[in-house]
Amino acid sequence: MTLWQSSAELGPDQGLLQFTGSLELDSRLFKYDIEGSVAWAEALEKAGIYNSDELQTVTQTLREIELDIERGQLQLDPQLEDIHMNIEAQLTSRLPDLGPRLHTGRSRNDQVLVDVKLYLRDQLAELKQELRQLLQAFVDRAAGEQRTVLPGFTHLQPAQPVTLAHYLMAFFEKFRRDYQRLDRGNQGLKTLPLGSGALAGSGYSIDREFLARRLGFAEPSRNSLDTVSERDFIFDLLHGLTVLALHASRLSEDWIIWSSPTFGFCRLEDSFTTGSSIMPQKKNPDILELIRGQAGRLLAAYQGLGSLLKAQPLAYNRDLQEDKFYLFIALDTVRSWLPLLARLVSSVRFNRDTMAAAAGKNFLAATDLADYLTERGVEFRRAHNIVRQLVELARKTDRKLEQLTTEELTAASSLLGDEVRQLLQPQASLERREIIGGTGPRVVQQAVERATDWLNEVES
Ligand code: ARG
Repeated sequence: MTLWQSSAELGPDQGLLQFTGSLELDSRLFKYDIEGSVAWAEALEKAGIYNSDELQTVTQTLREIELDIERGQLQLDPQLEDIHMNIEAQLTSRLPDLGPRLHTGRSRNDQVLVDVKLYLRDQLAELKQELRQLLQAFVDRAAGEQRTVLPGFTHLQPAQPVTLAHYLMAFFEKFRRDYQRLDRGNQGLKTLPLGSGALAGSGYSIDREFLARRLGFAEPSRNSLDTVSERDFIFDLLHGLTVLALHASRLSEDWIIWSSPTFGFCRLEDSFTTGSSIMPQKKNPDILELIRGQAGRLLAAYQGLGSLLKAQPLAYNRDLQEDKFYLFIALDTVRSWLPLLARLVSSVRFNRDTMAAAAGKNFLAATDLADYLTERGVEFRRAHNIVRQLVELARKTDRKLEQLTTEELTAASSLLGDEVRQLLQPQASLERREIIGGTGPRVVQQAVERATDWLNEVES
């Protein structure tokens, strides 16, 4: 029998209770449910429902229940539907007179929201800490790779030389935006849902300003119908987590390719690879593959929450219980790999020689050669054409651009001669790009320094 049933009624079918119950989903909220209930009891005292001695007793008993759950000494009962009813039932069995008063003026519709918001506040703080570690790992690795050259790609075809530091800082920027997005996504966590009641606002003179301060919210929510029906704050968080997961998935994809012996740009630490049950030589990048694959979970969760909310009539509907299914799978997924990813970034070994050799092949300096002509008065389109023909010639005869003879160069344009060979080195290409946001070694160095300052700032 559930708490809200009269003893005269028959208890609901066990199978139905199993279906409607949510304990499996919401038991992780127990601490926050207690925190909300302690504050609620204080608000009830102000409203004259408890006297101060009673409040003291209720608070102390709630804390005892919290400890018992924490220590695994209290078996939660799925027949009691959810975590809220479990805790209330415990309180009532320990305090038969005071327990039944706790839910005065409150609904599980506003209660569950305060629990989830308090839970997310803690989760976000931890998540941001983990994300800062990842950001730090990128900065640390970039600092050591200012001179390392590798081919940059477009369409996965070799395009122009970049430094490895520039590449690493690209991911720093992506994950920094994720950090800022998660920070901003916090806004919805600042309004207090408690006091909205089932949908129309609590029928008791509850001091919501007090409750907001007491539970660390900026202000009480402004419309009870909106409050119990909205899940924007979960949506905002899922959006942030999804973009973060997409970034992690792109990094994973790159390094899966890089670590393939065919590319050989990097080697993952052995602990980040797994062997094959049949092929003895294999070192597979399973961790990166799972991070890449699990980004799908985030996209699915985002879509799942959307389909849940679409076309629900105001205000609360039981569908909303499913919000936690999508929220927790998204959060748990990201938190399961985020610390691993930071360790992987810190420990990956880059093969500088292989990268440098790749950067010296495939005509990566072709654009620079066209620029050279353009600077000497040839229209860029025409210059592009001249260099394209030189590339064709070199490709056909299996040479690099700098291996073309002086006669061949001069035949293509009288402006070209021996002096361009120097220009065709990757280093020269990098040095031409000392522009804000470019791959020039000096600006990348500045980017690393600014990133370090930024990290120090957000850390404090
Ligand atoms: N377990 C429910 C949820 O997560 C709590 C609210 C239930 N409210 C109700 N009226 N049945 O949303």
